[in-house]
Amino acid sequence: MGKTIFVSHRLPINGNYHEGKFHFTASSGEVASGLYPLFEKQGDLWIAWPGAEIKESEIRASLILELSAKKMHPVFLTQEEIDRYHGGFCNETLWPTFHSFTQYINYNENNWDAYVAVNRKFCDAILKKAKPEDTVWIHDYQLLLLPEMLRKRMPDLTIGFFQHTPFPSYEIFRMLPWRQEVLRGMCGADLIGFHIYDDMRHFLSSIGRILGHTDEAGFIHTDSRLINVDSFPMGIDYEKLQKAAKCDETENLLRTFREDHHKQTFILSCDRLDYTKGIPERIKAFELFLDTYPAYVEKISLLLLVAPSRTTVKKYRALKEEIDTLVGRINSKYSTLDWVPIHYFYRKFSFEENVAFYRLADIALVSTLREGMNFISKEYIASRTKEDGVLILSEMTGASKELQEAIIINPNDKKSVCRAIFEALNMPLEEKQKRMRRMQYTVQKYSIYQWARIYINRLKHVKTLQQSLH
Ligand code: G6P
Repeated sequence: MGKTIFVSHRLPINGNYHEGKFHFTASSGEVASGLYPLFEKQGDLWIAWPGAEIKESEIRASLILELSAKKMHPVFLTQEEIDRYHGGFCNETLWPTFHSFTQYINYNENNWDAYVAVNRKFCDAILKKAKPEDTVWIHDYQLLLLPEMLRKRMPDLTIGFFQHTPFPSYEIFRMLPWRQEVLRGMCGADLIGFHIYDDMRHFLSSIGRILGHTDEAGFIHTDSRLINVDSFPMGIDYEKLQKAAKCDETENLLRTFREDHHKQTFILSCDRLDYTKGIPERIKAFELFLDTYPAYVEKISLLLLVAPSRTTVKKYRALKEEIDTLVGRINSKYSTLDWVPIHYFYRKFSFEENVAFYRLADIALVSTLREGMNFISKEYIASRTKEDGVLILSEMTGASKELQEAIIINPNDKKSVCRAIFEALNMPLEEKQKRMRRMQYTVQKYSIYQWARIYINRLKHVKTLQQSLH
């Protein structure tokens, strides 16, 4: 049996070098942290960028050593690569393309060259570690060229690719100057996974119209190989969340929060800073709610948790300023001496603190404008130990396809968000519990482990089919 090698652009932990030692903290990427519990149980090696530029060769050597004890291996990037590949092509070209934010796309030839070069760097790092019998599982849009690069060097390797963002319609994808290269890159994999059916169909439509490959129920016969494309909605480690929600540390945090704010109803909004999350739109909807239902003034508050992200990209800095201004305006309009409408935090909280917030919040408001999956909604559900709480969930998230008992909203329709908040506040406890129990059943059953089992079994099946065709 070969090894299972995870590959993503970011490691699940960041190593901060201070006074001759590395201090590891959880990284900010949802994908890397979402995969971490799975890797701890089932992964043999994780190859990725350590999250910052490291120039000194002694520090690099010591990081390699420390990470190898954690079954991880770093791919070092120069500052120019970080700027052009990560800040540039990944987050100014691919990210807005895949989320259908065409107004933010930046096409830049030099950034593309850096993207190719960094994918090649990853390929070289893998070639040093992989054997033909291994399985290499590549994650997300930062490494779209890697499957084909690896395939050329190791034709029999088992390669899985999973896209965690949405895939746009052909009309948007075809705008990309490097559309053929990107699709060919992905087709180096044996199995290409998406969270939901719609994204898989969009991808197949682009593959058909741009590369001329047609599929039969997701199976594509390219000139050389058979590949499979399908949807696999990713789950979370439900038991880990439940355990954390019941532990003493969470109970203590919850008690402290509650002592300070008894009788308050909290609506939780929790995201990485990103325009795809619809944070300004959500704040405006909350303002409209207070305008429309003044009886709730001084009774409810929005807990706005925003984790810093991609601060080198201009659009993200502008978004931060927009949020600051909006929160300032609304708080100055409504606050009283004993109450603020929006408790705003621009920092990253620990896992335990996040779980305490999930438990504290009577309502979770996830009004993302476009998102491949959304794990916050699933984590909120798994943390509700009393089986209560209401989830308001955007129909633009992958999670909304599974969590049908949430109050589903169109995040662009401010009035519908407003109505949903009112409905959530007035929902009888019995109804809340009925919905929450059903969603807990779904999230528990389709956990991250079940997701990986189904994906890896399919990957093996595709390999068997390929061999039978030879
Ligand atoms: C999203 C992407 C991840 C990415 C994360 C953080 O969740 O799907 O692949 O790691 O955002 O973004 P960053 O650019 O900081 O890695």
